[in-house]
Amino acid sequence: MKALVLAGGSGTRLRPITHTSAKQLVPVANKPVLFYGLEAIAAAGVREIGIVVGDTHAEIEAAVGDGRAFGLEVTYIRQRAPLGLAHAVLVARDYLGDDDFVMYLGDNFIVGGINDVVERFTRERPAAHIMLTTVGDPRQFGVAELDATGRVVGLEEKPPVPKSDLALVGVYLFTAAIHEAVAELKPSWRGELEITDAVHWLIADGRRVESSVISGYWKDTGNVTDMLEVNRLVLESLEPRVDGLVDEASQLIGRVVVEPGAEIERSRVVGPAIIGPGARIRDSYIGPFTSIAAGCAVSGSEIEYSIVLPRSSIAGVSRIEASLIGHDVEVTPAPTTPRAHRLVLGDHSKVQISS
Ligand code: TTP
Repeated sequence: MKALVLAGGSGTRLRPITHTSAKQLVPVANKPVLFYGLEAIAAAGVREIGIVVGDTHAEIEAAVGDGRAFGLEVTYIRQRAPLGLAHAVLVARDYLGDDDFVMYLGDNFIVGGINDVVERFTRERPAAHIMLTTVGDPRQFGVAELDATGRVVGLEEKPPVPKSDLALVGVYLFTAAIHEAVAELKPSWRGELEITDAVHWLIADGRRVESSVISGYWKDTGNVTDMLEVNRLVLESLEPRVDGLVDEASQLIGRVVVEPGAEIERSRVVGPAIIGPGARIRDSYIGPFTSIAAGCAVSGSEIEYSIVLPRSSIAGVSRIEASLIGHDVEVTPAPTTPRAHRLVLGDHSKVQISS
């Protein structure tokens, strides 16, 4: 069994962050979202993994390396343009050979891992096994129709009138049968080779497609709201730890992690929150569900329910909330005073804010 992790794509929903960075490397509790997936794959006993990369290949390769840190052997597979999830399978054809594989979308976040589904697939070996979860508004997802035994009888991408409330989660298990399906595909109306069409082809050809409904939490972290929500969830399970310096005039409340080399002076940090290595927090309030990455500087400011990427500085800003702030951003005050700021700032942004 191999794994195929999709870490290309264009990430339009996370612009401007994705103008300069891979969305799969946006940190959740200061760890790239992609790493959670790699850990789940390794935990399921899979060793050989192909990572499909696009324009951001250098950044992904620098972060993951040869995979040894995860107990994986990584092969990088270039996709010249994000032409669809099934196109990623097509470009990985030689790497995959005739092996079974688990396909994992690199920006998806799943609590509970994939051990059980990998074990079941290996035992039953249907042509494909898809993972599903119940969602409130299925019209925004790939939706499955099941028969009474849980076998998949239909799949539709973003249907206006959904046949169920079971949405596809970004993990699929395939035998080599999927290559026959992919070879037959034509681009969809949006110009992509769709994996849902490939699975549909298998069903129409009479192959067995099984499903399981996951009980744990799942999110596609493709947009800022979902990213902040996943960050909140992961921070809630942090083990508090202080490896940096916290002065006597500061207060840490609840689940707070202070990484080595971080310094907190005259500030209040209300967890769950994480302060990354070498970050400096002065005269500030860091509120719940906030991740401050390595090398950031926050002074005279208040921030909560936000993610700040490495080396950004925030000075003299009265309140930031529900914000995703890129690398090397500078947020500074401007003369007049609104009450709250909601920001989505790309890497290297420079913003003036009234405070
Ligand atoms: P999506 O989120 O479906 O697509 P996207 O990255 O183009 O994002 P957006 O909709 O915001 O423009 O992709 C799911 C995962 O698969 C993500 O990790 C990117 C990856 N991917 C590829 O590697 N190749 C592709 O051709 C596509 C479409 C996605």
